[in-house]
Amino acid sequence: MTPIADVVLDSSFRVGPVPRRLFGSFVEHMGRCVYGGIHEPEHPTADEDGFRGDVLELTRELGATVIRYPGGNFVSGYRWEDGVGPRNERPVRLERAWKALETNQVGTDEFLGWARRLGAEPMMAVNLGTRGMQEACELLEYCNFPSGTALSDLRIKNGTREPHDVRLWCLGNEMDGPWQMGHKSAAEYGRLAAETARGMRRLDPDIELVACGSSHSRMATFGAWEAEVLEHTYELVDHVSLHAYYQEHDGDTASFLASAADMDRQIEAVVATADAVGARLRSRKKLTLSFDEWNVWYQSRFVGENAMAFPEAGSTPRPLIEDNYSALDAVVVGDLMLSLLRHADRVAIACQAQLVNVIAPIRTEPGGPAWRQSIFDPFALTARHARGQVLRAAVTAPVLSTKRHDDVDQLAVSATLDEESGELAVFMVNRSPQEVLPARVRLPRGSWRPVAHEGIASDGTTRANSAGEPDAVRVGGRPLPTVADGSVELELPAASWTVLRFAAER
Ligand code: AHR
Repeated sequence: MTPIADVVLDSSFRVGPVPRRLFGSFVEHMGRCVYGGIHEPEHPTADEDGFRGDVLELTRELGATVIRYPGGNFVSGYRWEDGVGPRNERPVRLERAWKALETNQVGTDEFLGWARRLGAEPMMAVNLGTRGMQEACELLEYCNFPSGTALSDLRIKNGTREPHDVRLWCLGNEMDGPWQMGHKSAAEYGRLAAETARGMRRLDPDIELVACGSSHSRMATFGAWEAEVLEHTYELVDHVSLHAYYQEHDGDTASFLASAADMDRQIEAVVATADAVGARLRSRKKLTLSFDEWNVWYQSRFVGENAMAFPEAGSTPRPLIEDNYSALDAVVVGDLMLSLLRHADRVAIACQAQLVNVIAPIRTEPGGPAWRQSIFDPFALTARHARGQVLRAAVTAPVLSTKRHDDVDQLAVSATLDEESGELAVFMVNRSPQEVLPARVRLPRGSWRPVAHEGIASDGTTRANSAGEPDAVRVGGRPLPTVADGSVELELPAASWTVLRFAAER
């Protein structure tokens, strides 16, 4: 094998520490994500609050560190007060974002209790669509103020004595999108977000706030939206949000496999825009990015909310966008995570959308099993093994031409070095749909023992896991490579995701 790709790793070439918040997920009141997903009181594994134990266990295994809630488009019409207090007194509402009946059986206290039991950090979004600063501040007071006010005492009466102490707050969701309830211009949203941020910080100065960036990088206002919103909010927020969803279009596998190159460009464009605003404001502050919705989503298969009718009263939540994921989708998801890691110096938070059933790594059957989709393993293995410092890999590899994303590197690499445990993890994606890629990886100075070599490659089919065949498409083990002269050589299968792990011999 003559290597045609070369990767050089050096422990002193660093991007920065791995932000543990990069391994976040997202729970929205949409389809069967909450009801029938994390929550199903009649399920044999349900706890006293009605949350499924099997889903909680799988979420732990996934390694989700942050959970964003309650939306998404849902939050832009949400009245948080409907979801607290005795469950039998909570109203059923028409939910307009996804045309559903919202029973409010899961609300703020239930979600935050579940996140606590999971051991993940909650990231709450406030409604800046149909509501405003007042309601956002009231929700913050309900969650975080210790006691002695009507709202904090209401939380205590509802069963939570200690403050929930939520640190991360999104100022609305996708407010640039005409589909959003209460959609706004950048000037309108910028002013509202600034006022809300000021009000919320008065209540709790230490919270972290996320301003809405563009809904995706193909929005006509991408860039201009961020610039105008940040003119209003730069000194008041900590992060600006990004969202991106990818799918294979018309059998164009090469472009789909290059999705992470598009994510790289989106991140770099938002960093440049934020820094330009900071420079104009002569600010010393540097904003970080919250990529709080990303995934593979076959949007072309979704009829869209406008084509749907409201369900009948009393009906169970209808399945929405329950995409079945193939090995190819798993490779792309793995590669998107590498893009996030490569930008660990500026991307502080990321949430895969969503956690259960709705474009999700975990699927459930009512009353039945829960299983891992193909995209579960690359996420879980990256969350588990990407620790310590992200190394800046020097990569020499062929370039591929794609229809949607122009020229991209055939080989994507991210590596992490955990000096405490002495573990080195090298994640690689061969983006070519057909060509095997022989590669050499030159390891950092020192002596390294290979401990694991795992991966997944597209088999060119849409085969997916299911209740009957839960392990049909999983990441599998491969033979360990041999270290010779401080390097390993291996063949990366076409359209594949790989992780190689090494232990330092001390
Ligand atoms: O994750 C599904 C939807 O995608 C979210 O509700 C919205 O924010 C985005 O457009």
